[in-house]
Amino acid sequence: MKAQRVTIHTLRQMKERGEKIAVLTAYDATFARLFDEAGADVLLVGDSHGMVVQGNDTTLPVTLEEMAYHCRAVVRGVRRAHVVGDMPFGSYQTSVEQGVANAARLIKEGGCHSVKLEGGAQHAELVKRLVGAGIPVMGHIGLTPQSYHQLGGFKVQGRDPGGRDRLLADARALEDAGAYAIVLEAIPADIAREITATVSVPTIGIGAGVDCDGQVLVSYDMLGMDESFKPRFVRRYATLGATIKDAVGRYVSEVRGGEFPSDAESFTVAENKATGPTIGMYSTANTTK
Ligand code: KIV
Repeated sequence: MKAQRVTIHTLRQMKERGEKIAVLTAYDATFARLFDEAGADVLLVGDSHGMVVQGNDTTLPVTLEEMAYHCRAVVRGVRRAHVVGDMPFGSYQTSVEQGVANAARLIKEGGCHSVKLEGGAQHAELVKRLVGAGIPVMGHIGLTPQSYHQLGGFKVQGRDPGGRDRLLADARALEDAGAYAIVLEAIPADIAREITATVSVPTIGIGAGVDCDGQVLVSYDMLGMDESFKPRFVRRYATLGATIKDAVGRYVSEVRGGEFPSDAESFTVAENKATGPTIGMYSTANTTK
C-alpha cells in the first residue's frame, strides 16, 4: 500500500493534536530509506553534511549544488517522510531575489518538498516571498551554525539580557511571514517552551528541551558514528561507529587470511548460463519500490 506522504499540513495537525514530530537529518538514499521505514516524519537534508560527511569544521563551505545532489538522493529513498532541503551559507544572504532564485533551484533540482533557512526577523521578507512563490519554509533560530564566526563558536543562545525577547520576536516574525515550522537550536528549555506555546506553527528542537513540538538530531550523532563526539543534547541510540569498525576489521582479516570469498560466494563456469538470472549487483534504495 502506498504510504500517505507527510506534508506541512500534516505537521500543523500533529501540533494541534499534541503529537510529537520526529525529525532526523539524512544525506543519502540508503539511510533515508531506513529512517523512512522506521517512521521518521521529516528528513532534513542538513548542511551539517558539510561536517559529518565532508569532514569540514563548519557548515560554511557547503554549496547549493552539493545540497541539490544530496536532496535528490534522499528523495529517492523515501516514500512517506517530508524532505526539507537546507539553504547553504551564501545562497540567500545577499538579497531576497537571490534567496528566491536559489530556493527554487533546490526545489527544482533537488526535488525536496520545502527549504530551511537560518535566521529570524532579518529574513522575514524572504520567507514571505518564498511562501508567496509556493515554496514552504522551515525557519531556524537560536544557534544558527552558518553564523559560527559571528556567534564566536557553537554556543547556547538566548541567555544574555534580551535574549528571550529576541528569540520570541524572531519566532513570531517567522510565523507571521508564513514559515510552516521553526527549528529551535541550543536554547534554554524554558524559552523553547514559551516559544512553542506562543506560535501556532510546530517548533522542532535540538538542544532545546522536551517541550518543543518535535525533535531533530543529526543522524550520524544519534547513531554514534563518531565515538569521540557526544555533546550533552545528543542521545546515542546506537554505536554504529564501533559496529562498523568491528565489521570492517573482520572483513580485512578474512580477506588477508583467504577466508573470503567462500565457494558459495563465487561463480563457476558450469552454472554460468548465458541468459541466466541476474546476480544482484549493489543494493539500492529503490529495491523497496
Ligand atoms: O544542518 C542541520 O543538520 C541542521 C539541524 C541540526 C537542525 O540544521
